[in-house]
Amino acid sequence: MIPINKPQIDEDERQEILNVLDEGILTSAAYSGGKRVQDFEKLLAEFLHVKHAIAVNSGTAALHASILAAGIRENDEVLIPSFTFVATANSVACTGAKPVFVDIEKDTYCMNPQDLQRKITDKTRAIIPVHLYGHPAKMDEILEFANKKSLMVIEDACQSLGSTYDGKQTGTIGQMGCFSMYASKVLTSGEGGAITTNSDEFAEKLRMIRNHGMVNGYDTRIVGFNMRLPEISAAIAKTQMKKIQSMLDKRATNANKLGQLLSDKIRDKNIVLPHENQRAKYNWYLYTMAFNESRDKVKKFLNEHGIGATVYYDPPVHQTPYYSKFHKGELEITEWASKSVLSLPVHPSVTGNDLDMMASTVEKAIKS
Ligand SMILES: Cc1ncc(COP(=O)(O)O)c(C=O)c1O
Repeated sequence: MIPINKPQIDEDERQEILNVLDEGILTSAAYSGGKRVQDFEKLLAEFLHVKHAIAVNSGTAALHASILAAGIRENDEVLIPSFTFVATANSVACTGAKPVFVDIEKDTYCMNPQDLQRKITDKTRAIIPVHLYGHPAKMDEILEFANKKSLMVIEDACQSLGSTYDGKQTGTIGQMGCFSMYASKVLTSGEGGAITTNSDEFAEKLRMIRNHGMVNGYDTRIVGFNMRLPEISAAIAKTQMKKIQSMLDKRATNANKLGQLLSDKIRDKNIVLPHENQRAKYNWYLYTMAFNESRDKVKKFLNEHGIGATVYYDPPVHQTPYYSKFHKGELEITEWASKSVLSLPVHPSVTGNDLDMMASTVEKAIKS
């Protein structure tokens, strides 16, 4: 089976892990984190051209910490897409705030700025756009609206490390950006995450929140948690940072080749391929197509032929048993997308032969 994603682990990661074990310092509860945590943060901040990067132990922790740092609390409303991994909604809900679901656009699968405007109330405090599949959300329109209404913007860039919008790295455009280093992501440490910000004030708060609100030992100043990234994970992440550009380049080469092969073979107007544009450049975390009614049939066929094609996300969050209790109303494009999309693998281990095989299997699946 060609898996939908695969960690790119080689000798460098192995050696760095062994170095941590030999040194015997597996984590650090210091305000600034352990040695490798700091190395990783520096490399990430440099890559993203952002002032601060704060490593934490998951993308969920990154979102939770940002929401706390933004001062969002009980009864506040936070605008998020429903077409996302549930962590976006859970991070809001666990503070006692209410996630309010916004519909998406058909071309990006990201938040629709018009629906965003319709969903605002006097309780709205923040917007969390999600750059789903590595497709950047329309950040110019979202920011313009947020600035007009004095709302915070926290980007969920968990899937979009390396994607850019108008030349800016996703995760560095709003007040804070949240990244995941879960095993499937373009850069991984197994589990892990990071928050980026250009604000000294938020950076200071975030460093406290990841470490029980402490600065110098037992001097808790604000509410926090244990969100620390262990040194072994940081060692993997730091090593991965050194090859991030080549991993992204390989994804782009694979996605472009797959796009060409599929455009040559598919004439059906019901099947939509992903397309970058001048403003939005993808990291190609996933290669996501819309198949409309034939999606489940195509998925089954591809899986039976050794391709790990996967659906993200069906059901969307507002239709899960927990969140459906709170949400009223239809999200038309979200509901269409959840029944239509199918993602194919384009990670760096996918070969030219794999891409040829995938394209001809998709063609056969459609005709079957
Ligand atoms: C869009 C999105 N948000 C949040 C998360 C949460 O990240 P993590 O699994 O590292 O907690 C993920 C990743 O799984 C994600 O894809």
